[in-house]
Amino acid sequence: MNLPIVNLHDHARAAQAALSEAAWAYFSGGAADEISLRRNQAAWQAWSLAPRVLRDLRGGHTRCRLLGREWPMPLLVAPMAHQRWAHAQGEAGMALAASAQGCGLVLSNQTSTPLQDVAQLVLPETERGPLWFQLYWHADRSFTADLLRQVEHAGYEALVLTVDAPVQGVRDRERRHGIPLPEGVRAVHWPAPDSASGAGLCGGLADAAPRWDDVQWLIAQTQLPVLLKGITHPSDALQALQIGAAGVIVSNHGGRVLDTVPATAELLPAIARAVRSQRENALVLVDGGIRRGTDLFKALALGADAALVGRPALYGLAHGGARGVAHVLRLLRDEFEATLALTGCASVQDIDIDLLWFLQSLAPAQPHATPLA
Ligand SMILES: Cc1cc2nc3c(=O)[nH]c(=O)nc-3n(C[C@H](O)[C@H](O)[C@H](O)COP(=O)(O)O)c2cc1C
Repeated sequence: MNLPIVNLHDHARAAQAALSEAAWAYFSGGAADEISLRRNQAAWQAWSLAPRVLRDLRGGHTRCRLLGREWPMPLLVAPMAHQRWAHAQGEAGMALAASAQGCGLVLSNQTSTPLQDVAQLVLPETERGPLWFQLYWHADRSFTADLLRQVEHAGYEALVLTVDAPVQGVRDRERRHGIPLPEGVRAVHWPAPDSASGAGLCGGLADAAPRWDDVQWLIAQTQLPVLLKGITHPSDALQALQIGAAGVIVSNHGGRVLDTVPATAELLPAIARAVRSQRENALVLVDGGIRRGTDLFKALALGADAALVGRPALYGLAHGGARGVAHVLRLLRDEFEATLALTGCASVQDIDIDLLWFLQSLAPAQPHATPLA
């Protein structure tokens, strides 16, 4: 009997059934023992909600402000490579679904669909979310500068520079299966791999890995706001702001790069505090393990302006194309709206840390739960 799909876990199961073993290993896998991958989800669950009742919920909405503009939802689809491997509609299906659900989209530098095609689909939609482009550093600055001009010309509204993956993570599941991209699917804005790839840091990749002065150069090349993705340390967040970044994305790459780094829900409060102490209007976003509307709510309560969702959107795409993605985002949106109402919030502006408890144990013998002030 086929049960209806009612949550993001159901979407994961449907995707696994639809994908080849190698594709499932690539899309769902994490680094090494996948401790950070599991911990990302568990850490959101560890926070408990502290709902308030009888508040005035009239005129409720989910709208938020990012980079000076108002958007329907504080949720974006995270950048993810090779989406045409998951489904023939690829990044086009992903982008259409995100904009139809009022969510933002960050297009991966390793997109299998040209960035111009994706922008054309999304930009005319009036109730869409933000459209940003994710960049990996390329040692050849003229390559990066040329790509940047294409991104600006196509109408992308911000750049996301991913800084946590100067080398490929050690992903066991992927190493067993390889990445057998189907015929015709390739990263269209990334040069073909050369002999240095896979050589490891000591074997030559260190020369190509970005440094702070490269980021400073990038920021000077563009009028677009630049966010750094893959920040897990408050000091790096502060340094990013000092050199002119518009904000940071607290991310451990969905547990795909360095295993046993903490979950992003654990890192977010300290990083958000550091950022806000330096610049009140700097952006803080977070991703990793967001699977429920309550997780999104907790991200905002812990100091994020918005969150990104990764694998679940790919899972929706894999088994249902754009309709599958739209359903994933709709579920998150509905759950988030319900959470707002049930915690006594009429809008995202009402969300704050007083609506969370961190309970060391749920056992009744532990009465010392402390609401964070
Ligand atoms: C299959 C896959 C491909 C990814 N490709 C990229 C990428 O090209 N660039 C990037 O910055 N992050 C990439 N990521 C990381 C995501 O942007 C995001 O940080 C992560 O998936 C969030 O965690 P979640 O999947 O638990 O929601 C990828 C993640 C997955 C699962």
